[in-house]
Amino acid sequence: MKVRNVLLELDNIQGTVLNNRPMPYFGAYVAFSIEDATAARTMLKRLIPRITSCADWAAPKQHAWLNIAFTWEGLRRLGLSPDILEGFPVEFRQGMAARSAFLGDVGRSDPSLWDFPHGNNGFHAGLLVMASTAEGREEILDLGRHALDGLDGIEVTAHLSVGVPPTMREHFGFVDGISRPFIEGQGGEPLPGQGEPTKAGEFILGYENELGELAKGPGPEVLWRNGTYAAIRKIYQDVAAFRTYLRQSASNAAGEEKVAAKMMGRWRSGCPLALSPDVDDPTIVDDPQRNNAFAYYEDDLNGAKTPVGCHIRRVNPRDGLQDTMAYARLHQLLRRGAAYGPLLPEGVMADDGEDRGIVLALINANPGRQFEFVQSQWVNDGDFVSQGLRSDPIVGRRDRSDDFAFPDKPVRRRLTGLPDFTATRGGEHVFLPSISALKWLSQMQGNEA
Ligand code: HEM
Repeated sequence: MKVRNVLLELDNIQGTVLNNRPMPYFGAYVAFSIEDATAARTMLKRLIPRITSCADWAAPKQHAWLNIAFTWEGLRRLGLSPDILEGFPVEFRQGMAARSAFLGDVGRSDPSLWDFPHGNNGFHAGLLVMASTAEGREEILDLGRHALDGLDGIEVTAHLSVGVPPTMREHFGFVDGISRPFIEGQGGEPLPGQGEPTKAGEFILGYENELGELAKGPGPEVLWRNGTYAAIRKIYQDVAAFRTYLRQSASNAAGEEKVAAKMMGRWRSGCPLALSPDVDDPTIVDDPQRNNAFAYYEDDLNGAKTPVGCHIRRVNPRDGLQDTMAYARLHQLLRRGAAYGPLLPEGVMADDGEDRGIVLALINANPGRQFEFVQSQWVNDGDFVSQGLRSDPIVGRRDRSDDFAFPDKPVRRRLTGLPDFTATRGGEHVFLPSISALKWLSQMQGNEA
């Protein structure tokens, strides 16, 4: 496969855009509300020297990384002029709470039930702290605190610690973080299963995208070039409900594992059903040449191995939709995810009342065409794979349909009465400006053209 030589300005792109989190990983999200533009710009000036770029990532200060993002309301309060603000994509302008009906954030995922300050309650800027040690995280958090010294009119509204648990698995027990797109200019060669390199403009503004267009933003080039968006999703996971449902759906432990695997498209070890459909083969997982080396069209179009309605095939149908109108390359996401809350101990079937879940930062240069399309059409709807109103068995809405069907031997299997295994507890479309855009924003005099 020929990889085009695209030169990305790595010293100007925030590090989390192109780099995977360290393992193990100690992270935090800190949300700020901005009441005073001058105070916010002062904070930004203080933080900019510590913001990690992609180029800095390999040589981190204090084994920890710091990135910063703004909601549209945050950019407005920072003093960006109305004409520039109007030029941002409608999804970013409105904010995720306003789009809840479209995104399926209904019932117990309704924004009125979201955790503070999500849902237009003071999430104006967010620090993304990433570290390879707990001390590293604390050092960066201290830095954030000091950046506020003596400032009125900018306040911390929330702080959430996240990380990868010692088991290296997310709360439902699945190994995560295996599959990701290969981006032109990131360096190296794609791994088997990553397919053709994705045009950088799908994930970073200022570069050509999959439509052959320059991905752009509003206002001066310095504001948008090398910046991007992320859809932040804070999702509560009801681990007891998930375990109980597996138990009720199978007569033994092996059967439970199979049901879990059919819902996800991978065994909980991370082994893909596509490569080992009948038994788990954890040896595949540690081999990057094999753990993602599959597609669907040639030998599994009807989902006999990987069900067409399972989580990973919905969110990334790979080549499986090529006979349809959908063009999967236009709907890709770069995932940065981490767990929050304590693990429910192994074997416990009853809920312990603790808050736990996942925080996803889904990076995309076009929030409507990428995150919102995937969430509304692929996660929450089954039409695109002839599954009617059926939604994603792991994270989909349940108010329109609550069953999941997949081919099995000797007969097709249909699971019914799937409860809500998850609930959205927060969501924000944020913008991650480039390093030069951060400098530009910090030097604005207010309402600048
Ligand atoms: C509780 C919520 C969720 C959990 C526990 C979860 C878990 C997982 C796991 C275990 C994998 C397979 C590992 C891998 O391929 O790296 C995966 C893949 C993926 N997930 Fe999720 N996920 C959740 C929500 C979401 C949401 C809301 C989206 C997007 C709207 C999403 C997008 C993806 C994508 C794009 C992949 C890669 C699929 C592939 O390339 O084959 N996930 N997820």
